[in-house]
Order: sequence, then C-alpha cells, then structure tokens
Amino acid sequence: MEVVILPGSRQIASLVADTIEALLREKPDAVLGLATGSSPLPVYDELALRHERGLDFSRAHGFLLDEYVGLESGHPESYREVIRREFAVRVNIAPENIHGPDGAAADLPAACRAYEDAIQDRGGVDLQLLGIGTDGHIGFNEPGSSLASRTRIKTLIEQTRRDNARFFGSLAEVPHHVVTQGLGTILDSRHAVLVATGAQKAQAVHDLVEGPVAAICPASVLQLHPHASILVDEAAASSLKLADYYRHSYEHKPAWQAL
Ligand code: F6R
Repeated sequence: MEVVILPGSRQIASLVADTIEALLREKPDAVLGLATGSSPLPVYDELALRHERGLDFSRAHGFLLDEYVGLESGHPESYREVIRREFAVRVNIAPENIHGPDGAAADLPAACRAYEDAIQDRGGVDLQLLGIGTDGHIGFNEPGSSLASRTRIKTLIEQTRRDNARFFGSLAEVPHHVVTQGLGTILDSRHAVLVATGAQKAQAVHDLVEGPVAAICPASVLQLHPHASILVDEAAASSLKLADYYRHSYEHKPAWQAL
C-alpha cells in the first residue's frame, strides 16, 4: 500500500489522471472502476480536460461501484445518472460501455450475480477509483461487511444517509438500500486508487491505513490488496502516525516507478 500526501484535490486529481492516462495509452480497452460521491469529481474534471487534449476513451469500459435501490431510472442522483453527467458525456466513452449494478431489478440477487459475471467477462477491473465514507466504507460496504463479499444488497448506516442527504432534497429522500460491489470484488481489481480529502475523513483514513484489517473499517481490506494507492490531502492525512515516512518515501520514489 502506498500513501501519497498531496497539498489538495487538484494535485490528487492530476496524479490519478496521469495514472489513468498511462493505463489507457498502454491498454486502450482498459476497464475503469468508477466511484461517485464528491471525492472523484476533480478526477472526472481532469479526465474531461485531457480528453479535450486528445485522450481517447472510445474503447474503454467503465463499471460503477454501486447504486441506490429504488430510485427510478434517470433519477438525477442515481449513480448511473451521476456518472453519465460527470464523466461519460464529457469524454468519448461509448454509452453502452458504461455498466452499473441494477438497483431497479425485480430480482436483485440475480442482478448482482449478473453484474459480477459482466465484470469477469470484461476481464476484470484494471483501475478501481474509490472514495471513503466517514465510517470507513468503500463502495457501499458498510462496517460489518464481509471482507470476502461480492456484489449484493446492503442497508446504509444512518451516518451515510445523513452524509449523502446533501445530494437530495431531504434526508427522507435518501434510499435505505443500495447494491454495491463487495470488498472481495474490489480486492480483485488490478490497481485500487482511493482518494480522500478533508479533516472529516482523517479518522477513516487512519483506520484504513494504520488500523487493523477489520470489518469495522471496511476500507482496511485494502491492506490486503497487492496494489493499492491511497491519495490524501494534508487534512485527511492529519491523523496518520507515519505521515512523515509516507512523505519521505514519495519524495524519494525512483523516477521510473509510477503509482
Ligand atoms: C460512491 C461510493 C462511496 C463514496 C463515499 C465517499 O460510489 O462508493 O464509497 O466514495 O461515500 O463519498 P464522498 O466522496 O462524497 O465523501
């Protein structure tokens, strides 16, 4: 696991975009794992800019991490719609190459299994972009999630509903249920890149990086990931015991070694 502490979200977005750009140049049909929420938005802004400068997404695929259950198709806060608006329409990725778990399916368990199959059929996720919840969730794997879980239905913790109420008219409109890639699904990605900014994420980032691997902090499962990059700003890094070591390692990183 590599921890990179950067001044702010602009620098974080630029480094993530460098990594995605290098991946797409080497593998134009790469599979990108797409997160929603506020944290990845600067990354999508930067990718849109790079597309204007020629970065080609025409053969790439995108798989969403999660989706609310019960929002009607086209709801502005459904994650499929958020990804369409914030990312897909701003680059030249084919609409049919964007995949998401179906939160409106009549048979949710079958839809979750089909989603796992679709990821496998595409050859797996090359780069999984992640944010982290204040309670340590990744995707919508709330505390207590099995570290081996696959895509399935989950119930949101009230703290997460409150955190996400800012995207909806009121707390009452935030769904209670979601479908999310599991922690085992996320562990299968070839490169996991988690971004976090702001002091409200400091405790979760500490638990993820320096706490025990435990279901109480689902993101801590990334300690078992063979290639995980944790990109944080100073505020989100403020509870890290080894912050100076992470800074030192990044400053002295060999020039040939990418994220
Ligand atoms: C969304 C997702 C969530 C968010 C997390 C942080 O697809 O997977 O894990 O990344 O809730 O959200 P923000 O970035 O809004 O603080």
